[in-house]
This record gives sequence, C-alpha cells and structure tokens, in this order.
Amino acid sequence: MPNVFNYVFGFRATPLKFGVGATELLGKEAKKLGINSTLIITDSTIYETTDVIKRVTESLEKEGIKYDIWKELKGEPTEEDVINALDYAMKKDFDGFIGVGGGSSIDLTKIVDACYTYKPSSFKDYLAKPYGKGEAIPGPIKPLIAIPTTSGTGSETTRAAVIITENAKATAYDDFIMPRLAIIDPLNTITMPPKVTAGTGIDAFTHALEAYLAKPTHLIPPGSIVTGSNSLIDLISEKAIELVGKSLRVATWDGKNLDARSDMALAAYLAGIAFDSAGLHVVHSVGQAVGAIKGISHGISVGLFVPAFLEVVAPICPEKTARVAKLLGKDIKGLDKREAAFLASEAVRELLKDIGFPNGLSEFDVKEEEIPKFVEESIRRPRVNSPVAILPEVVEQIIRKTMKLW
Ligand SMILES: [Fe+2]
Repeated sequence: MPNVFNYVFGFRATPLKFGVGATELLGKEAKKLGINSTLIITDSTIYETTDVIKRVTESLEKEGIKYDIWKELKGEPTEEDVINALDYAMKKDFDGFIGVGGGSSIDLTKIVDACYTYKPSSFKDYLAKPYGKGEAIPGPIKPLIAIPTTSGTGSETTRAAVIITENAKATAYDDFIMPRLAIIDPLNTITMPPKVTAGTGIDAFTHALEAYLAKPTHLIPPGSIVTGSNSLIDLISEKAIELVGKSLRVATWDGKNLDARSDMALAAYLAGIAFDSAGLHVVHSVGQAVGAIKGISHGISVGLFVPAFLEVVAPICPEKTARVAKLLGKDIKGLDKREAAFLASEAVRELLKDIGFPNGLSEFDVKEEEIPKFVEESIRRPRVNSPVAILPEVVEQIIRKTMKLW
C-alpha cells in the first residue's frame, strides 16, 4: 500500500448551480461575477429548435444585463468558427461570456474568451503542439458561464477545449479556461434526440470509467498533467458510472423524463471532474483515432471500444472492474473477483444494445487493411495513466474484438 504522504494530488471542479429551472438563476449569478454585457455563444440547432436561448436571455434581461448572440456554430468548432466568433466579439465590449450548447459551444467559448482577453497573434498560440505553439494562457480570462444542453463532454468543468484544425483535433489545455460557473438545468437537455443522448451519455460513462481504472496517483510520474485515480476520483467516478447504468436507457428512449435527464446531467458533470484530473487513456486513444479516420461521432466511436477494453483490463484490475459490473447492476455475489470482473464487459454490451448503438465496427465498412492505420494512430499519444501499456498488439486485440459486439 502506498504511503499517502508520499504523493500529492489536486482537485478542481467548476462551481455549480444544478437543477430543473436553474437557468433562471443565470442573470443573478452573472451579476455576482461582474458581468454587465455578455456574448452568448451557441450553435444554430439550439438557437433555432429549442427554447433554451429564450430562457437564458429572459434571465439576463431581468437583471438588466446586455447581451449579444453568436449562433453560427454548426458542429464541432473549426478554425473558421474561432476566427468568425472572435471577429464578432472584438467589435464590442464584453465583460463576460456564456457558452450554451454541447461541449462544442462551450469549448469554442473558452477559446474565444481567452483570445478576447489576451489578444494573441493567433488563437493557435494556445493550442497544444504540433497544431499550435502550446503557450500558456497568461492569466484569468473574463468570467465564463457554461450552460450545457447535452450530458456528455463535461466541458462545463474541464480545463480543455478542442478545436478542429488541419483536419485534426487540437486541444488547448489550461486551468485558466475552466468555466467560472456551470449552470446545469436538465430542462435544457430534454430535446436531445435518442441518438445524441446515447452517444453523449456513453461518452460521459467512458470518462468516468477511464478515470476510475486509471493507474493510481502514486504511480504517475511527478509533474504529469494528469493525476491518475485516487480515493476522491474513485468516489466521483463510481457515482457517475452508477447514474449512467441507472438512467441512460430511460433518458435515451423517454427524453422528457426529468429524473433520468437529471441523473445523466449530473453523471456528465461528475465524470468531467474525474477525467479532467485523472486523465483518459485506452478507450479515448483508440476511439478518437478510429473515429477521426472513419468519420464516426465522438460518443459512438469511444463507446464501441468499451466492452473490449473491459475484457483486456478485467484480469489486470479485477477488483475495480468487478465493482463496475456491480455498479451497472450485475449480481456478483458468490463470484470470484475475476469472474465478476468479466461481467462488466457484458453489462456494457447490454447497455449499448439497449440504447441503439451500432453493433461494432463492422457497421462502418471497416476493412482488414485499415487496421494497421488504426493501430498506428491510436498509439501516437503516450498515456502515463493507462492501466495497460498501449502497445500495438493490445490495440489490435481491442479493435478486432470490436468488429461485432453481440
Ligand atoms: Fe470523450
């Protein structure tokens, strides 16, 4: 057992207002943060097809806060989106920003706010190498309030922002772009269609799972950007896993069910806290690599690889993997640890099937000759927190097991 005094870990989370109707608090909370004139950044679907922005602006108007809306985002934020939104912002004086939407809108708001505040020569200065200069954001950005409309990325409580540049996903990673406040109102998520609910919900699940199964903190090299798992991460990620197991099916197929939507919204926030510290590893490495090559959306592309990952990790971390099975509702009484651990993979397969997931990579026209490329891309990024070395043979095994899930 490690001596707990031999290592140090941190903890960070965005302050939160959570609950049905929480959006009504926006105006008052913005005032407390000193916001009198704000730019709302959102996507065209949220703006045109939901009443979320109406709720947001009504609350701002009640407090006499001036606002503008940039609503041109159409998918994951690209270089062009950053330039256009920033151009729009620069024409006026804003003392705060509000990101409304999925992780895409919130990530874009983080970058726009940082650039608005510090005016770098290019926004790419803040993106990690090789896509940008990897420069640190010089200090606090203008107060940023995140209002998620999906329950997946956890962007409302992370220090990351992902921008598509040169056909790759580049990340800005800095404590200063963490939102100052998250307003999570399950009412803002009820119009999410089943496919989006399933994909984003599994993304949140994967964040919690990878955080939970990450190497423990005392085995992570000092100075790493991630902490790996520890007792605090375990506590948070176990709850997120349990909430997803309990409510993702209902949230997917009965979208107006506010109990299920509340569980999923909380799960995504908790999972965001957990992975922002502990870090992601195998599933996101493989999922993002294959997803980028085959054009599969983020949640689906990571979710597909979870069952195979759990099979690989079951004999390595049997105790924790068995706990995952239990949290997902499997009866593990009387089973030895190893048997119980293998039920986790089964539980996730059942969940994926129930929420309408594609039955493996075979549904995406994957050819045998593409596998070496998937492997090569998956192992590109080192992951010091991975419970299993991300070797070509491990990744290949995971990919082959994912061709058909049931
Ligand atoms: Fe993710």
